[in-house]
Amino acid sequence: MSLHVLSHPLGAHVLTHLRDKTTKPALFRTLSYQIALLLALEATRDLATEEKSIETPLEAMPGRVLARPLVVVPILRAGLGMLQPFHDIFPDVSVGYVGLERDHTTAIARSYYCKLPPLDGKRVIVVDPMLATGGSAAQAVDVVKSAGGKEVCFVCIVASPEGVAVMQKAHPEVPIHAGALDRELNSRKYILPGLGDFGDRLYGT
Ligand code: PRP
Ligand code: URA
Repeated sequence: MSLHVLSHPLGAHVLTHLRDKTTKPALFRTLSYQIALLLALEATRDLATEEKSIETPLEAMPGRVLARPLVVVPILRAGLGMLQPFHDIFPDVSVGYVGLERDHTTAIARSYYCKLPPLDGKRVIVVDPMLATGGSAAQAVDVVKSAGGKEVCFVCIVASPEGVAVMQKAHPEVPIHAGALDRELNSRKYILPGLGDFGDRLYGT
């Protein structure tokens, strides 16, 4: 499995403001959009294209367009904070949803919702801002694979070494695109230094 950590200076800038505990939900949502846009571009660098002949106002030329449909699967609820940029740059994208919630004491994710479009022959991008223990991401990719997803990648804003290792073991062929790779998990399985509870900060809960 390959881990790609965002290296764009704007990524570091946005992430610093996201991590700042004084950042309020309205700005937090904007910053989430911005970093997810950078990650969306990174995660789709290798999308296949095919030739399409067009005519510019001056002459005919062979252009290139995306060859295969794309599906994005946000893990509810925090993953919704990363969805909009995928809609904006890939207007024909289909969206599937996987609802998972970590138990507050065990940190084990429980599934409460799943709705996926047909995945056969499509590139699938699973998005969730936080890769902590890796339980949610590994479970979501299991669900996507069971539904027929074959070419899958995972995109997150902050990853922990523990979460990366869990994904590496469960889904070694799934590339991970992360905004940052942080130091460790604390005893409550939160990422350090991290940014706290993403869903709570996004939705002001
Ligand atoms: C958060 C986050 C991930 C999960 C990561 O969601 O958005 O889905 O925790 O933790 P893990 O790697 O240890 O599984 P949470 O369960 O808090 O639900 P929410 O998105 O509804 O806030
Ligand atoms: N979920 C979050 O929102 N933040 C963490 O640090 C870990 C899991």
